[in-house]
Amino acid sequence: MHMRAVMLGFGHVGRALARLLLRKAEVLRTDYDLTVTVTGLATHSHGLAINPEGLDLAGALALVERGERLDALHVGSPVTDTLSLIERCPADLVLEATWLNPHTGQPATDYVRAALQAGRHVVTANKGPVAFAYRELQALAAERGLGFFFESTVMDGAPVLSVGREGLLATTIQRIRGILNSTTNFILTRLEEGTPFAEALAEAQAIGVAEADPTTDLEGWDAAVKIVVLANVLMGADLRPADVERTGITGVTVADAQQAIQAGERIKLLCEAVRDGAQVRASVRPVRLPFADPLCQVSRTSSAVTFQTDTLHELTIVEGDTDPTTTAYGMLVDLINIARGRHRLA
Ligand SMILES: NC(=O)c1ccc[n+]([C@@H]2O[C@H](COP(=O)([O-])OP(=O)(O)OC[C@H]3O[C@@H](n4cnc5c(N)ncnc54)[C@H](OP(=O)(O)O)[C@@H]3O)[C@@H](O)[C@H]2O)c1
Repeated sequence: MHMRAVMLGFGHVGRALARLLLRKAEVLRTDYDLTVTVTGLATHSHGLAINPEGLDLAGALALVERGERLDALHVGSPVTDTLSLIERCPADLVLEATWLNPHTGQPATDYVRAALQAGRHVVTANKGPVAFAYRELQALAAERGLGFFFESTVMDGAPVLSVGREGLLATTIQRIRGILNSTTNFILTRLEEGTPFAEALAEAQAIGVAEADPTTDLEGWDAAVKIVVLANVLMGADLRPADVERTGITGVTVADAQQAIQAGERIKLLCEAVRDGAQVRASVRPVRLPFADPLCQVSRTSSAVTFQTDTLHELTIVEGDTDPTTTAYGMLVDLINIARGRHRLA
């Protein structure tokens, strides 16, 4: 099978995915009889490019890494914005890794909708479209026989959503608990080690875990968006991030973290979705967890999720050492799964 893909966003994740597509081209061909050409690329400030014959991905990487624009690779009449590129570029699949707005899910939700309406499968690493419009977008994809996959939106490349979708069949998930935000988990670990909050935050920024403006992480918005994705996709809920009862970690001090340790506990920013009759309630808040809790063992930038179901009492998935390549890997797996028709099972 041959797939023509459009990439929206060519930042950390988009570029890691481009490198992975180049590195795994032979494996895709031999193991899955799959070849992929990228026919379109869209960025916010580095230009846009379409080439129906396939863009030179290595050349695109070199251009952007030198701080230059992608327009030099464009063939045909000019393309001025991302929505027109989605509509005009010949493609079977859109790989979406643009900016996340945790309060609206835009403009990525519009991009995903436009891609599905134009008959393209969609793979996204962006939590926004899933947290704000999962039911609508999934219904649109199903109606058109298209794939809409988003494994990388929670715990990067770790197969959390696909375990839920393909492994936890004929079961009721009663509760999902998770440590889902790297910045806050890193800071909480450093507080336990005696590093003051501001210094721990600066370290998280220095290693590239936290953004220059870390509010979204510290106030629990990023974690809220992720628990909404899990609740809506795996528990049939219809929540939005504003529905999550949310407390961030800015009030936690070294003294709080160390007192917890002395009591055999750790403070963690716990994300929870709990079935309560016909409803699902979701929360994000710092809580003290006993050392015996598997989620308590997850330190620094690692993340974890525990499912409690009526058939498997407790299943925990832990992911360590994440980076943009692990996120890109989740997108690559989604692409392979669409190529082999797994979306028809969804
Ligand atoms: N980083 C991770 O490990 C990770 C993990 C899980 C999920 N994600 C999600 O993956 C997505 C990308 O993350 P990232 O770290 O790669 O971010 P990033 O480095 O900031 O890159 C974002 C890319 O999107 C482009 N972009 C922004 N608005 C656009 C628009 N309207 N049309 C087309 N392109 C646009 C930017 O263009 P310019 O370069 O011109 O600004 C940039 O290329 C986000 O939604 C994020 O939440 C990231």
